[in-house]
Amino acid sequence: MQNVHVINHPLIEHKLAILRDSKTEPFHFRLLVDEISYLMLFEATRDLPLKPVEVQTPVAVAKAQKLATSVMICPILRAALGMLDGIFKLIPDASVGFLGFQRNETTLEAEFYYAKLPADHASRTAIIIDPMFATGGTAIDAVNFLKAKGVKDIRFLALVSAPEGLNKFAAVHPDVPVYTACIDEKLNENGYIVPGLGDAGDRVFNTG
Ligand code: URA
Repeated sequence: MQNVHVINHPLIEHKLAILRDSKTEPFHFRLLVDEISYLMLFEATRDLPLKPVEVQTPVAVAKAQKLATSVMICPILRAALGMLDGIFKLIPDASVGFLGFQRNETTLEAEFYYAKLPADHASRTAIIIDPMFATGGTAIDAVNFLKAKGVKDIRFLALVSAPEGLNKFAAVHPDVPVYTACIDEKLNENGYIVPGLGDAGDRVFNTG
């Protein structure tokens, strides 16, 4: 699938298996979302640009490299809040740009209701996070929103994805890479990913 990167790793596979289990308790589910996000971010940031710097060590001046971009993490409310701590462990100085979408349970479409971006958002590398890449509607709207705000470098990080959503997204935003831990079988008639893991927001926040 074009511009979709499936991040395969035994630790991610193992943690996903426990994450999917309906018997996994909310506190454990939250921990796993956090850990998988952390492991995935390593790959999703592999091509971030670097700039040369000189650093004075206790011994001599070392030629080194630092990130040449600032990162803005964009969690799609609310389930992605469970991924945020894992991301901060790797990029502690990232800014956060909140994107509020909620699913209309009748149309299954995403409805936008809130955004709060850092002032310098247009110059940042945006990493949109959402545990579930389902119909693709929210993802498309979120990227439309950021592009309209002038953001140029946008990538998407999702734990579990549906092929229908990924295909729809790639047709609209072929320039935006999607990093996912797995591509499941399909969407069901309620827009849930099969086999998926159920309602990620409910499982993260114990509201099911
Ligand atoms: N959102 C979820 O939380 N789960 C799904 O399966 C699809 C969308």
